[in-house]
Amino acid sequence: MSLTNRQLRLQSRPKGLLAPGDLQLLEAPVPELKDGQALARVKYLSIDPTMRVWMAADTYLPAVAIGEVMRAIGFAEVVESRHPDYRKGDRVMGLTGLQDYVVLDSSEKRGFQKVPKIPFVSDTVFLGVLGMNGLTAFFGMEIAQPKKGETLVVSAAAGATGSIVGQIGKIHGCRVVGIAGTDEKCTWITTDLGFDAAVNYKQPDWKEKLAAATPNGIDIDFENVGGDVMHTVMGRMNLHGRVVVCGLISGYNKEDPGLVSLGTVLVKRLRVEGFIIMDYASRFMEAATQLGQWKMFGKLKDRETIVEGLEKAPDAVNMLFTGGNIGKLIVKL
Ligand SMILES: NC(=O)c1ccc[n+]([C@@H]2O[C@H](COP(=O)([O-])OP(=O)(O)OC[C@H]3O[C@@H](n4cnc5c(N)ncnc54)[C@H](OP(=O)(O)O)[C@@H]3O)[C@@H](O)[C@H]2O)c1
Repeated sequence: MSLTNRQLRLQSRPKGLLAPGDLQLLEAPVPELKDGQALARVKYLSIDPTMRVWMAADTYLPAVAIGEVMRAIGFAEVVESRHPDYRKGDRVMGLTGLQDYVVLDSSEKRGFQKVPKIPFVSDTVFLGVLGMNGLTAFFGMEIAQPKKGETLVVSAAAGATGSIVGQIGKIHGCRVVGIAGTDEKCTWITTDLGFDAAVNYKQPDWKEKLAAATPNGIDIDFENVGGDVMHTVMGRMNLHGRVVVCGLISGYNKEDPGLVSLGTVLVKRLRVEGFIIMDYASRFMEAATQLGQWKMFGKLKDRETIVEGLEKAPDAVNMLFTGGNIGKLIVKL
């Protein structure tokens, strides 16, 4: 029986939030498999802020071309195989794209990895706490070099990455302060995740609240947001503090993302380091093992926001920018 593949293809480069039609839902027949190919059915899609960057311009990866299936990380299950390395039922993760089916073959460069089935572990953790976000938090905190008693501030603190960063900060004995956009998120990270304090940056007095929550200044800024949030946090940095530039989401929808003043870096003798998680690919197994142990022993808690249906993926991307997600945002197919 011939199968139909629904695909979301990039039709126009968004201006601001995605508008209807920027990603267009089209159907294509699933091709007949050749020797050396396998067909996998996508089950879950990871919705990540960097997708908005990929729609706009060449950065650490080339921009998605107009007309191309939108790039995205996904979790898929092999349904048919003529490939020596894949069997029906194998589970894989990699750049599936926003579509129902993906063909795996030996020439593909989408970094597919087989995912083991682990009892009592949901498939979706491999997209979040044991996937890209957990790994990003892990290696970003390695750059931060946290010491017991230091103050760590993390922005987008109730998101997939920020929520893990703060918990790793607690494991290292830091005072952890999260910045997030709703009172519900602030309550979750303090009550359930053990952050010492949380500040809602949408409240008019948030800068005073941040000052009150960081009486000894800030030693580590784990920066996920940029813009005014980063500027304010950097103003409270201690001498020789570390700024880990993980993401600058406040600028991803803008033509001009704004600049950070290097004056503070000079005067406070800060170490500012950016990173892209792909640089650490050779150490993913080591990090995932540690994250898995922390999760098993209850030191890492995670939460997911699940949106159902491929056709909802464009709305889901926008949710990242309006703050509609708590924890990892996933589209279930
Ligand atoms: N360097 C890397 O390799 C790497 C890898 C993964 C992720 N990242 C970066 O890490 C950051 C978080 O990514 P994630 O996947 O974990 O997403 P996420 O935090 O789960 O979701 C994004 C969150 O950002 C907050 N936000 C959106 N626009 C904002 C604005 N203008 N000002 C302040 N907060 C805003 C929203 O929460 P609020 O309700 O709190 O506003 C939203 O829920 C992003 O910047 C992403 O690009 C980097």
